[in-house]
Amino acid sequence: MSRRTVLITGASAGIGAALARVYAAEGWDLILTARRQAPLQALAAELPGANVTVIPEDLADPQAPRRLFDAIALRGLTVDGLINNAGFSRTAGFLVTDPEQHAAMIRVMLTAPVELARLFAPAMVERGYGRILNVASLAGRMPATGGDTLYGPIKSFLIKASQGLHLELRGTGVHVTALCPGYTLTEFHDANGTRAEVSAAYPGWMWQTAAHVARVGYEASEANRPSVTPGVMNNLLAGLAKHLPDRMALAMVGGHAKRLKRI
Ligand SMILES: NC(=O)c1ccc[n+]([C@@H]2O[C@H](COP(=O)([O-])OP(=O)(O)OC[C@H]3O[C@@H](n4cnc5c(N)ncnc54)[C@H](OP(=O)(O)O)[C@@H]3O)[C@@H](O)[C@H]2O)c1
Repeated sequence: MSRRTVLITGASAGIGAALARVYAAEGWDLILTARRQAPLQALAAELPGANVTVIPEDLADPQAPRRLFDAIALRGLTVDGLINNAGFSRTAGFLVTDPEQHAAMIRVMLTAPVELARLFAPAMVERGYGRILNVASLAGRMPATGGDTLYGPIKSFLIKASQGLHLELRGTGVHVTALCPGYTLTEFHDANGTRAEVSAAYPGWMWQTAAHVARVGYEASEANRPSVTPGVMNNLLAGLAKHLPDRMALAMVGGHAKRLKRI
């Protein structure tokens, strides 16, 4: 059987880079994308067993998904797996965050995953084989929190859209899975400027490594689970939030914004 190829967005750091290592170890070739080319090239050099293609893109640009699709077609590559992983949050508060940043969050974590799935899934179905792994978040299973007001809803959308596509493509050979990590040690909290606050607010045992999260995501995708949340505690929290009355669930996550001194 010829080697499979997976396209991973946001592969220059964190969970995306960890997913690249897992897929390479499992015998996949890789197409890596993010804005920063240097870390993508460094990762490619670290994975000599795989054929790695680097295509830098800014997914906040509305034209990026189509450009990526065309650039891949131009190279004659086939995408067997799509991992929508790129993401970031802005936590300063809805009223003080630049509307352009809100638009970028929606484009990178919501519009781009939808468009990339719509571009690549038809050929996967035609070939009778495909993997779509959408990196959502535990935040998508919890009530929204003040401060990073849009982040949770965007991730909820991604979970629900993954579930819908999972059902729609059942039996086609294309697996669709939402991966919902809780706190994970990556650059994420450096990028949104909350590293010191979240490290102080949440104990070490609540944090998972990107390598662990990536392995759980890979296994869930292969098993065609509609969604997976790594970690017993994260599943308990999500289960609690689901079964508590709204008022109590909101009070529970209200503590999060307080701990981050956002309200
Ligand atoms: N870390 C956590 O605690 C946590 C928890 C739950 C869910 N998640 C989710 O996991 C995913 C990966 O996050 P991470 O923790 O690995 O964070 P990270 O270490 O900050 O990595 C984020 C990745 O997204 C890329 N990215 C950001 N903006 C982009 C843009 N405009 N265009 C293209 N790529 C862009 C970054 O690359 P460039 O900067 O090079 O563009 C980087 O490769 C995200 O969707 C995040 O929401 C993270």
